[in-house]
Amino acid sequence: MIEKACSDDLEDILEVINTSNREVFKCIIPKDYFQDPVLSRQELLKLFERMAFYVYRSEQRIVGVAALSVKNAGEGQIHWVYILPKHQRQGIGKALVTHLEKEAGEKHLHRLKLHTAGTALWAINFYEKLGYHLTGKIDRAWGFDVVMEKKLPHL
Ligand SMILES: CC(C)(COP(=O)(O)OP(=O)(O)OC[C@H]1O[C@@H](n2cnc3c(N)ncnc32)[C@H](O)[C@@H]1OP(=O)(O)O)[C@@H](O)C(=O)NCCC(=O)NCCS
Repeated sequence: MIEKACSDDLEDILEVINTSNREVFKCIIPKDYFQDPVLSRQELLKLFERMAFYVYRSEQRIVGVAALSVKNAGEGQIHWVYILPKHQRQGIGKALVTHLEKEAGEKHLHRLKLHTAGTALWAINFYEKLGYHLTGKIDRAWGFDVVMEKKLPHL
């Protein structure tokens, strides 16, 4: 059900990210800073060059996405974890992040990081349940992001 994304998946990935982002972040990002769509086709194409996207399919339809980039010194970063609203709370987010961790382990990464909005308490809870802990804060014009990290076990 989880596969590495290819260029044929671009439109579906955009649909998942922009729909899910609109649903939740509109309520917590101040109006002047809220971006909708949060990602354009052109931006996504550029992201494809520096991170690997994975998609979760349910009945042939992409309903969840997540991406992994490799940083230096054995570190990776998780990006763009988005599940379509009506498919949330069914274990898909957990399955995608667990898949990214497996991919990271195969690349001999020893730590994964991510950023999420400091007021996205549902997301912080989700990542804490998966073993990530808060390690920092980044000020943004609209508020702040938190940094979360997890040390990966050696393979
Ligand atoms: C956050 C998100 C990725 C979680 O994915 P999901 O598939 O819904 O989550 P899962 O079903 O795998 O949940 C695993 C656990 O995380 C926690 N969790 C998930 N969603 C939660 C929520 N909205 N509030 C509180 N805890 C939550 C729960 O403990 C859950 O286990 P449970 O359902 O047995 O209680 C998804 O809700 C989403 O796309 N949200 C909008 C975009 C977003 O916030 N992305 C992350 C930051 S960019």
